[in-house]
Amino acid sequence: MRADAIPSAPPPDAAVPRHIAVIMDGNGRWAAARGMQRIAGHRRGVEVLRKLLPLLVRRGVPYLTLFAFSSENWRRPRAEVSFLVELLAATIEREGKRLHANQVRLRVIGDLSRFPAHLQRKIAESVELTRENRGLGLTVAVNYGGRWDLTQACRSVAESVERGELPAGAVDAELLESRLCTDGLPEPDLFIRTGGEQRISNFLLWQLAYTELYFTDAHWPDFNETHLDSALEFFARRQRRFGRTGEQVRQLQA
Ligand code: IPE
Ligand code: IPE
Ligand code: MG
Repeated sequence: MRADAIPSAPPPDAAVPRHIAVIMDGNGRWAAARGMQRIAGHRRGVEVLRKLLPLLVRRGVPYLTLFAFSSENWRRPRAEVSFLVELLAATIEREGKRLHANQVRLRVIGDLSRFPAHLQRKIAESVELTRENRGLGLTVAVNYGGRWDLTQACRSVAESVERGELPAGAVDAELLESRLCTDGLPEPDLFIRTGGEQRISNFLLWQLAYTELYFTDAHWPDFNETHLDSALEFFARRQRRFGRTGEQVRQLQA
């Protein structure tokens, strides 16, 4: 087995998040601080991921969702956008088989229609290749925005109502959730944002309702095992109440 191969998952543990959602931020600033171009930071960011996946599996985390490109990132200089799109294509091409060999099940969320056909094809191939895998559930959000997701889910519900398949009164949170592009994924337990900013930047707006939020000043290219363990320790110390009192939660856990 290669050093970065992904071992099979240990049994679940409530102190360990089932689903971690990550905003991998700070690539550009990491590169600028070293006198390099921003794209060097993006390249380095991919290397960080290769090391991170096996660590997550070893710690028993079954789902990971990564924000790789937001619906607002098109506003960046054209050269950076092109680089990011090509980096995504190259990464999927290069890593697809390795992910498959490591039992990773890949899912890609976001509005893919805006990407070049060759990228859409590569994404579909890798998703198909890994569909039956039972290891880490890796979701990559590209051209994704929480507002886009909620909008397309509402449109889908409205179309069902319009077609007479559904009375408006049957629309509830569960139904709306089933039309979000994260359908079938557990809600994230832990959110990690690197790069020092403390904001959501239009990531999983609905899904983060009860997620524990962890922010670190480390830039994504520097994110390592120690940073991951600090985030996991932070998570293990939280008492998740979901609206109840602390006393009620202690009783439920007893
Ligand atoms: C995150 O790093 C990667 C993407 C948004 C694609 P940034 O590129 O946002 O890096 P900073 O925040 O400018 O340092
Ligand atoms: C969020 O980072 C998007 C990704 C990491 C893909 P940004 O760097 O785009 O967020 P803002 O613009 O600082 O809020
Ligand atoms: Mg940024």
